[in-house]
Amino acid sequence: MNSSAWKAAGCGVALAIVAGSAFAAPKPEDEIRYRQSVFNVIGRNFGGVLGAIAKGERPYDQAEAVKAAKLVADLSTLPFASFGPGTDAGASHKSSPKIWEDPAKFQSLADKFQLEAAKLPAAAADLATLKAQVAETGKTCKGCHDEYRLK
Ligand code: HEC
Repeated sequence: MNSSAWKAAGCGVALAIVAGSAFAAPKPEDEIRYRQSVFNVIGRNFGGVLGAIAKGERPYDQAEAVKAAKLVADLSTLPFASFGPGTDAGASHKSSPKIWEDPAKFQSLADKFQLEAAKLPAAAADLATLKAQVAETGKTCKGCHDEYRLK
């Protein structure tokens, strides 16, 4: 092997080490922080932007509404992978222990939410359809929070 091939091989080893650490399972406290962060951004865009527009507390601006709607739709796919085994403890959080007793039921509420959230970007193109879809999506937030989010 010539010297550049050795360098390339060394590089591969270094990359494998970096990749190994990147793919190691996150610690429970990191998962908790991650799901809370995602929900926080969902809340800001859903309640703070789309909800406020729907209530008439914020003027309807199509570009702004579509942007917030896309964020909520995209982010709706992220938090639920961070409720895996062992993530019920490790940092302060407000997730009910019931989530880990019946993960399938929790996931079914997550699925309903994702289905409604996915309709938000198209609905945001028009104020009347946005209002209706904010109401439908909001029911799925509340449906899950009432049962699975601690006060
Ligand atoms: C399938 C269940 C589920 C759905 C659907 C859901 N949430 Fe949540 N949400 C939770 C749980 C559980 C927590 C608590 C997370 C924790 O602390 O571990 C939470 C936390 C939050 C928080 C607090 C985040 C923080 O700063 O700690 C906000 C804000 C929030 N959700 C907004 C929403 C909004 C808005 C929707 C709908 C657009 C929604 N959630 C849909 C389960 C859900």
